[in-house]
Amino acid sequence: MTANSFRLDGKTVLISGAGGGIGRTLVETFHAAGAQVVGADREAKMLEGLPLTRSITFDQIDAKSTRAAVEADIAANGVVDAVIANAGFTRAEHLGQLDDDVWASEMAINLNGAYALVDPIAEAMAKRGSGSVVLISSVNALAHFGNPAYSAAKAGLIAYAKAIAVERGAEGVRANVVAPGSVRTPAWDHRLAADPKLLDKVLPHYPLGRMVSPEEVANAALFLASDAASGITGATIPVDAGLTAGNLRFVNEVLRAQ
Ligand SMILES: NC(=O)c1ccc[n+]([C@@H]2O[C@H](COP(=O)([O-])OP(=O)(O)OC[C@H]3O[C@@H](n4cnc5c(N)ncnc54)[C@H](O)[C@@H]3O)[C@@H](O)[C@H]2O)c1
Repeated sequence: MTANSFRLDGKTVLISGAGGGIGRTLVETFHAAGAQVVGADREAKMLEGLPLTRSITFDQIDAKSTRAAVEADIAANGVVDAVIANAGFTRAEHLGQLDDDVWASEMAINLNGAYALVDPIAEAMAKRGSGSVVLISSVNALAHFGNPAYSAAKAGLIAYAKAIAVERGAEGVRANVVAPGSVRTPAWDHRLAADPKLLDKVLPHYPLGRMVSPEEVANAALFLASDAASGITGATIPVDAGLTAGNLRFVNEVLRAQ
């Protein structure tokens, strides 16, 4: 294993949600590691200013048009070497905000759409005999921190990565998951609008005493996509400043308080 195993020189990577908070950092990180980056998002204007080789636009809530856009890109350009399924969305913060329609739409964007994005790519990678899939899930997939429908969808991504890992491993395709903790991106704007002091309430839950940066999430995705992780498939890496290691507030408020 050499330092170059961590780079992606000459490789092509598709990143969905490329115009978002983590997405923009994923693009910059993979570009800096030598990859040609294909950016995907809902609208072309969201991808402005990014160092992209080309872009694809689709609304991931619509599985059919997501799959069609990806298949058209494969037909025109061949399949990418890696895909980072990063697009995601939630507004239903707790069970009281859920109903059948909200549940369905959060599953559609976060799970069904991610499957429609990745499936044609993983199939084409398998035909070629190589490829790496990285799914951006969440700590919400590992324990309950709110957002029930989103959490179920993000947990589904872990099962889906394992399916690819097991069923396509012999064809040279690896699939892994990054599970970020709280990252200050535009995904938090609606919560901060409701409570500008919210981030102060988040920090006591995190053993490292801080939230995770987009760069830390992108570095884990880069590692998993690269040949440096050639022996890793079907794994989930929390990038969560220790949140899922245990319950820091229990230790501080119950045990250390005595
Ligand atoms: N920010 C956090 O605290 C956090 C924590 C854990 C996991 N995540 C996950 O990380 C990923 C990136 O989140 P972020 O914080 O950068 O959020 P963000 O809101 O900044 O970016 C989300 C991206 O997904 C795209 N997207 C959303 N709905 C879409 C749709 N219907 N069709 C196509 N694209 C769509 C958006 O346009 C945007 O580019 C998401 O999957 C999110 O669930 C974020």
